[in-house]
Amino acid sequence: MYFDLRPKTRLKDFYNREKELKELLRSIKEKDPLILVLGLRRYGKTSLVLTCLEEYKIPYIYLNCRLLPSLGPVSPKDLALLLTESFNKFLKRRKKYFKRIKELLERIEEISIAGFEVRVKAPKAGYQTVVKILNSINELNEHIVIVVDEAQELRRLARYRFDALLAYTYDHLPNITVVLTGSEIGLLYKLIHKEDPEAPLYGRAYHEIVLKPLTKEQSKDFLIKGFKQKGLNPPNWFINTAVKKLNGVIGWLSYLGYHTSKQRKFSQKTIEKTLQEASKIALAELERFLALRPLARKRYTTLLKEIALLEKASWSKLYKLTQAEIGKIPKPTFNQLLRKLLEANFITKENNKYKITDPVLQYALKHLTSH
Ligand SMILES: Nc1ncnc2c1ncn2[C@@H]1O[C@H](COP(=O)(O)OP(=O)(O)OP(=O)(O)O)[C@@H](O)[C@H]1O
Ligand SMILES: [Mg+2]
Repeated sequence: MYFDLRPKTRLKDFYNREKELKELLRSIKEKDPLILVLGLRRYGKTSLVLTCLEEYKIPYIYLNCRLLPSLGPVSPKDLALLLTESFNKFLKRRKKYFKRIKELLERIEEISIAGFEVRVKAPKAGYQTVVKILNSINELNEHIVIVVDEAQELRRLARYRFDALLAYTYDHLPNITVVLTGSEIGLLYKLIHKEDPEAPLYGRAYHEIVLKPLTKEQSKDFLIKGFKQKGLNPPNWFINTAVKKLNGVIGWLSYLGYHTSKQRKFSQKTIEKTLQEASKIALAELERFLALRPLARKRYTTLLKEIALLEKASWSKLYKLTQAEIGKIPKPTFNQLLRKLLEANFITKENNKYKITDPVLQYALKHLTSH
């Protein structure tokens, strides 16, 4: 079934992304040390990775970084706990590894094994625990994929650099392939310090897969096929409006399909509701960004709203409008605001004009009364 709100894990439920799927599979089979899967919210990153690993029965450990504390620093202990928790899920699925891993992990002082579960003794757990667990995984002598979903969260890892850990895995643990996914692409690049010659990962090649939205034709096809699976035949106006408003984001098309199939009727209202739900997620993302920058909050929201209203905005126009609204801002400060928004992928620069990257965020900002 295409219309399901969880990430897909089966090819039969998975629409279209054959090219990306093949590319990911090939890269994993070649034991590439590091793979990046990039795409905005709800573009299907998690589905792509999980479908590939599940369908081709590749052993993997799945770390969901959205489960890390959402504000403030992430401690090495938080990471160690997330890793062991994810590791336990892996062991439950693949019991055959348990005996060997038990032998390997028992050597680690801060780890205990109870039943079929690995536990870290919390006060002692830290960065070294993470390294030791990774070493043990490597020693299983089997190729294992570690998925770090929404890896940009790890940029808040306190006292240590996550990219140093990646570089260590890259250089010394040949049985591990790390797949990083991220919806905040600029932040993910920052995490791995792309293009910084001083950075631990510098000079190491990695494979990058960028998910794009579906084309108009694909979006239509996805909706029509999905409804057919549910025994429904959507009218043209419904498909056309949905495709126009939801801009090829597969997650929102699924969401619309799911709710429409439940009601078994095609209504304009469901499309609006989908757009509003999508707006909530888009605004929540923005909120997380703003929460880290309370002092510049007003500046960011003013600037974003202007870009949303203008749709395509030149630097000089934005500079003028922003100052008209909230008073004088030095140019370097203004440029810094733009740079941060570009990095977080809220805005994109094309032909010297700025625009809101995600059309849903654009819709949300336009309808935002006060913030
Ligand atoms: N290729 C696909 N075929 C069918 N449905 C898909 C496909 N990719 C994603 N979906 C659906 O879209 C929604 C979002 O997918 P998924 O969670 O994989 O995206 P994501 O990019 O990881 O999202 P998020 O940014 O929220 O983590 C889910 O409902 C999922 O079932
Ligand atoms: Mg995801």
